Amino acid sequence: MPVLQGKKILFAVTGGIAAYKTPHLVRSFIKQGAQVQVLLTEDAEAFVSKLTLATVSNNPVYSTFQGDNGTWNNHVELALWADIILIAPLTANTLAKMAHGICDNLVLATYFSAKCPVYVAPAMDLDMYQHPTTKYNLEKIASFGNHIIPAASGFLASGLSGQGRMEEPENIEKIIKGFFQNSETLEWEDKKVLITAGPTYENIDPVRFIGNRSTGKMGFAIAQKAAEMGAKVTLVSGPVSLEIEHPNIELIRVQTADQMLTACQKVFKASDVAVFSAAVADYKPAHIADQKIKKSSEQMQIDLIKNPDILKTLAADKGETIVVGFALETENAIANAQSKLNNKNADLIVLNTLQDAGAGFGTDTNKVTFVTRENNISFDLKSKNEVAADILQFVAKTYF
Ligand code: C5P
Repeated sequence: MPVLQGKKILFAVTGGIAAYKTPHLVRSFIKQGAQVQVLLTEDAEAFVSKLTLATVSNNPVYSTFQGDNGTWNNHVELALWADIILIAPLTANTLAKMAHGICDNLVLATYFSAKCPVYVAPAMDLDMYQHPTTKYNLEKIASFGNHIIPAASGFLASGLSGQGRMEEPENIEKIIKGFFQNSETLEWEDKKVLITAGPTYENIDPVRFIGNRSTGKMGFAIAQKAAEMGAKVTLVSGPVSLEIEHPNIELIRVQTADQMLTACQKVFKASDVAVFSAAVADYKPAHIADQKIKKSSEQMQIDLIKNPDILKTLAADKGETIVVGFALETENAIANAQSKLNNKNADLIVLNTLQDAGAGFGTDTNKVTFVTRENNISFDLKSKNEVAADILQFVAKTYF
């Protein structure tokens, strides 16, 4: 079933220029089966028309307590109707009122009556967004349990450039869909997750390297899923052709195992969960030639030395961090995965075997067994996106 099917979204628009982008977002929610009711502040009406929003939402749009025919627009009813409230764009003015209990319009009265989660997408000019009062107010409303979708950086309507633009509607949509994705959503909200993905390339000379066929698909799928559920993800990836963009994902691209370890060391301790899905090269050349190696003799040897085991190095002192590793085995799969679990001090090993058709490198599917100290759970062949969801669901259920 589509994620937004039947979901009730109360969309409040306040008076910033980014309001002109909101009909697209309303339309997209509707196309995906959501019910949307739109509220406007009076200032927002200057930027986007009620008629447009009523047309795309298939519902009347309210901006005052009194309806067109002398009716009463009941803020309590509106607030209780909603599964989620989205305030986008959120102006400095409405933000300040939310922070301090000022309730002088329908949007604010509805907000103060709400019991459901509230997401806000602030949009302001550069210096307004940087102002200590704005920062204070954002922290304040976050401390009340509201969810902030931080402003993006770029060209601002004033002509200045910097942070202050309302996050792009497609990214706001991803975050709202992430909220509804499943019941684990709330458990992943703001969790810090480190993920390694892809191969590593170990240089032999300036043009050659030792690598492997990992495409990074599994790690990227986990990153996407975790981010959609509200986690803050650091994705450290070796060389892959995949792209990923989500406001909750910081992508760090590296080449070698040493670089991957250094990048991971910076965030591991602060991570709630670390998932090591990278196919790290076990060995690297002992010396990297400065110049391209010539083909002079019939035979040549390259001395290899061991790479750091990133998972093992970090998990040795893992504190509260939940550690998930992967294992690709060709024989004695379960026994090998269990010894990996213990040797590397992991909490969960996701095992896949090359014997299973559709599992492993490059495919869009995977067939996995979760190996823990308590039990082993085998799954059917699934898409890597579904496997990602299974892993995150299992971690939340078992360890949070
Ligand atoms: O020992 P093996 O390579 O089979 O272990 C696989 C698991 O360990 C994976 O989770 C992989 O990402 C991680 N690993 C690592 N650094 C290495 C080798 C493996 O993080 N050098």
